[in-house]
Amino acid sequence: MKIVLATRNAKKVPELRAILADAGVSAEVLSLDAFPDAPEVPETEPSFVGNALLKARAIAAHTGLPAVADDSGLSVEELRGMPGVLSARWAGRFGADDQDRANLELVLDQLADTPPERRAGAFVCAAALVLPDGTEVVTEGEMRGRVIREPRGENGFGYDPVFVPEGESRTTAELSPQEKNAISHRGIAFRKLAAEIAAMV
Ligand code: IMP
Repeated sequence: MKIVLATRNAKKVPELRAILADAGVSAEVLSLDAFPDAPEVPETEPSFVGNALLKARAIAAHTGLPAVADDSGLSVEELRGMPGVLSARWAGRFGADDQDRANLELVLDQLADTPPERRAGAFVCAAALVLPDGTEVVTEGEMRGRVIREPRGENGFGYDPVFVPEGESRTTAELSPQEKNAISHRGIAFRKLAAEIAAMV
């Protein structure tokens, strides 16, 4: 069985391979690098689930193979759930090297006057599997925590240096990749999806 992961993010492919293997699925996970003509799918939906499905449907249609896609972001209560689906470009479009830092600094600015008890939020992830026959499976994961005032840590990406998960004192940028995967929104959503795939094959 082959599965295409609808992302050009090289870090997500080994992560999904490992999660599927742990769930007992012996699928060959291909990345979009194997399909240079695959369409770029703009994330135009207002929800993580909607965007994950959009991408998985487009890639299943293009490749004729089962396709998995995810969409994720940071949702801050004080900001009425934003940046949400706009997380990747919250500060506007920056070059790849500056984008994460600009997004993170804008959120810190927006929360500058917000006291610790009102800085709760969550990383949220939706993962979608779409089969060429039209079957669709969607799972979700969430990691609750809070946004701190000063960035800490070198691991991860995006908003990791300012996010401390519930029950932790370290930011997700101070956790090892394994520690983060064990509790992360993406780890949870993909483990649920892997269990669904294992039950299908
Ligand atoms: P995407 O799901 O790869 O499109 O990611 C959306 C955006 O949400 C990223 O560019 C990050 O800004 C943010 N984000 C999603 N997951 C994480 C995470 O695990 N850590 C930090 N930021 C994240």
